[in-house]
Amino acid sequence: MTQTAWDRTTFVDITQFAEVEEILRRGREFVVGGTKAGSMEFVHGTLVATDGREHLARRRALMKMISAEQPWGAEGTLVDEIFEQYLQHVVETHEPRNGNVHFDLVSLGRRVVWRVTAAFVGLDGIDDPAQVERFQDLVKPVLEGLTLEYQPEARHQEILSSARYSRARIREEMFDPSLQRRRSLIEAARRSGNEDDLPADLITSMLVHGGDNPDIDVIFRELIALLAASVNNPVSQMAWALDDLTSWLGTHPEYRTESTTKGFLNRAVKETMRLHRSSRPHLVRIAAKDTVLETTGREIPEGTWLSLWVQTANRETAIFGDDADRYDPLRMPSDPKIHPFGVGLGAGPHVCLGRPLLLWDQGGEEAQGLLIKLLRFLLTHGVRPDPAGQQVEGGPVGGRRHSRYDVIMPAPADA
Ligand code: HEM
Repeated sequence: MTQTAWDRTTFVDITQFAEVEEILRRGREFVVGGTKAGSMEFVHGTLVATDGREHLARRRALMKMISAEQPWGAEGTLVDEIFEQYLQHVVETHEPRNGNVHFDLVSLGRRVVWRVTAAFVGLDGIDDPAQVERFQDLVKPVLEGLTLEYQPEARHQEILSSARYSRARIREEMFDPSLQRRRSLIEAARRSGNEDDLPADLITSMLVHGGDNPDIDVIFRELIALLAASVNNPVSQMAWALDDLTSWLGTHPEYRTESTTKGFLNRAVKETMRLHRSSRPHLVRIAAKDTVLETTGREIPEGTWLSLWVQTANRETAIFGDDADRYDPLRMPSDPKIHPFGVGLGAGPHVCLGRPLLLWDQGGEEAQGLLIKLLRFLLTHGVRPDPAGQQVEGGPVGGRRHSRYDVIMPAPADA
């Protein structure tokens, strides 16, 4: 391979659905290793920066963490409890006007999702509003460091130094004490032969799978990389989902009654995910060898850097219909093998690890993914966009999200 550094001007843009999907699926020919040069110190050895056997083994080690029966999983109640607690906090801290509470949904969503995330990565003690605030303040600069390649070059040094500082604080204040506690738990479980009862968060899972001498630096980097993958996306998808669905229900009132059922909500959030990519607008791969794409015959020489434009692919009319740019929760892709959310969660070996946490089609009405629960809670509490408030959208084309999304909710009778 010739090129070794991120140089956007040399990237080949891939926008056609079939090509994006094939490149993601063919993980041997199109790799992620080497794509993270600028942020390597943060992600070296993690899921998002490795390929092949090492990558597969890591995914296996984390399977229990994403299973439905975990407290944060589809069958658990952690999300329900945290949401209710924060909504209550909103009601207590926002004086109702004309019988309605007005608040920023993005701010509520961040608190809920970041706290759930802290639980499944295994960071203890992040369970009251002040601690969640501290957690957010520390993690935000680190996330910028992890996506350094996508940031303007003039800011790189400033981003790196702030990311390094915050990462050291997270390690000292949050990670090290949580690690210590888990080491003690594992020792006790091994002595009593009750290892099955151990928590399944990231730190515990990686300690358990790490043999006699687990690499703590790798565990810490994986934890940071997982935070990057899991904290912002669900929040922005939740705001888009409410935005899309409340507007659609305005013109399809006959669906109001069934709009809070699991089946309908699953379709609704998948359609939002197809329509809106709200983080890094393009995924990146490098061709590990000369390859000809099976779907289109395109020849891709070894060493080519590829930008995969997920949102453009997800709006392809040949697959999703002539009105592919519009939101329609009743939409069916032309090919039943294609997910309703297209490549919104990626595909192939690096497909989103969080899928079972986000969406859960299996089981009864009570087992629901995070995105479905969040949208259901909002609808059942009567939350809707505030016509007199601000819904501020920003970010690059193909990666747009709301920095603020004002909503209105009928004040509870006892507020
Ligand atoms: C709506 C929210 C989310 C969206 C739209 C989303 C989307 C994606 C996409 C498109 C990829 C593929 C990246 C690539 O191929 O380069 C990915 C990977 C990943 N996602 Fe998600 N994600 C979401 C939430 C989550 C959550 C909650 C978790 C928590 C477990 C998570 C964990 C991951 C991880 C660890 C990877 C990397 C997997 C690997 O490289 O093997 N994601 N996600």
